Amino acid sequence: TGMVTLDPGFVNTASCASEITYIDGDAGILRYRGYPIEQLAARSSFVEVSYLLIYGELPTQAQLDEFTGKISRHTLLHEDLKRFFDGFPRDAHPMPVLSSAVSALSTFYQDSLNPFDDEQVDITTIRLLAKLPTIAAYAYKKSVGQPFLYPDNSLGLVENFLRMTFGLPAEPYEVDPALARALDLLLILHADHEQNCSTATVRLVGSSEANLFASVSAGINALFGPLHGGANQAVLEMLNKIHADGGDVDSFVKKVKNKEDGVRLMGFGHRVYKNYDPRAAIIKKTADDVLGKLGVQDPLLDIALKLEEYALSDDYFVERKLYPNVDFYTGLIYKAMGFPTRMFTVLFALGRLPGWIAQWQEMIKDPARKIGRPRQVYIGAAERDYAPITAR
Ligand code: CMC
Repeated sequence: TGMVTLDPGFVNTASCASEITYIDGDAGILRYRGYPIEQLAARSSFVEVSYLLIYGELPTQAQLDEFTGKISRHTLLHEDLKRFFDGFPRDAHPMPVLSSAVSALSTFYQDSLNPFDDEQVDITTIRLLAKLPTIAAYAYKKSVGQPFLYPDNSLGLVENFLRMTFGLPAEPYEVDPALARALDLLLILHADHEQNCSTATVRLVGSSEANLFASVSAGINALFGPLHGGANQAVLEMLNKIHADGGDVDSFVKKVKNKEDGVRLMGFGHRVYKNYDPRAAIIKKTADDVLGKLGVQDPLLDIALKLEEYALSDDYFVERKLYPNVDFYTGLIYKAMGFPTRMFTVLFALGRLPGWIAQWQEMIKDPARKIGRPRQVYIGAAERDYAPITAR
């Protein structure tokens, strides 16, 4: 009520008060529940970070064991849900498969969808954390025509996901611990980022008191877009294209600066970070490590380094404070790990899930909660009279 202010993209409008994630965009600071991202990346694990985001504190060993145990007991998908994957074309992009399957979970667990029943919210939380890696692996298996593998609950979350993705029924699959650790680290870096597009979507959908599965499914769809999570796929496609065109970085950057065909330097720029993205700094080092360890010589890495070097010293990018963001180097790492380009945004979704859940839970418990319902500034026709169709 009162005066309505127009703020496209909510550049200056806070939609909630939150205790979960702190970002200082000018200083390049990111903290989950007060803990600096650099410390969590170096010393924590994705499951522990999930606990931290959702429950607010780092777990004791007993709490972590209980949480891990609960997640591993819920990794199986209902056999009927497994058949759901048959309905998609072989070349289906795995992101809409992922969001559809998550949406479908609310048909399998109709007795636990009450957003105001803590026990029901908790079991839904565990089911989501446990089943999303299985769904993601099946979306991949479907796309390559290989059989689905049942989860192996003696393995950790990341190891299990890697085995279900890359393993085959007849061959034992040994998870490379260095690979698992690198993926775990990337998931930690993606785990929350306050009110980004997909998280704001999860909160907005949830504000109508829609259940957690429905809200997270909406978040996955928001993440799919190339300006958000889809950027990691778009970066690799951009690097591939520059490579295919002969590796001419200068003429590509010129195109971006002239805004030809709306071409952007994908993996650059951020609404909040105007100095550097602390996640990108950690990831760049990981890219060196992973590519080095796996012995991968990727010409796309050289193109990425050249692009970065060029952009960081060019007025267009400097004036607009455009720096590499989290997505600039992740694609190269995922590619080196063996993931096809279309799985990159799915990996982002796996990482962002605990953040979505934590933010949805905070929203539903917020005493100041109201249904999300932005206002508008009307700029259409003034009142006019209906004309019969023969008179138009
Ligand atoms: N390449 C070229 N120009 C850019 C870029 C870019 N990547 N990003 C912003 N600009 C320009 C933009 O054209 C505008 O210039 P001008 O003032 O001349 O019109 C100026 O910089 C400000 O851009 P904006 O679009 O108003 O900034 P925003 O805060 O609304 O957008 C962004 C942020 C991330 C959507 C944008 O920087 C972008 O499109 N980046 C490329 C896509 C990308 O990498 N997304 C991943 C974001 S990080 C993680 C995630 O959310 O997935």
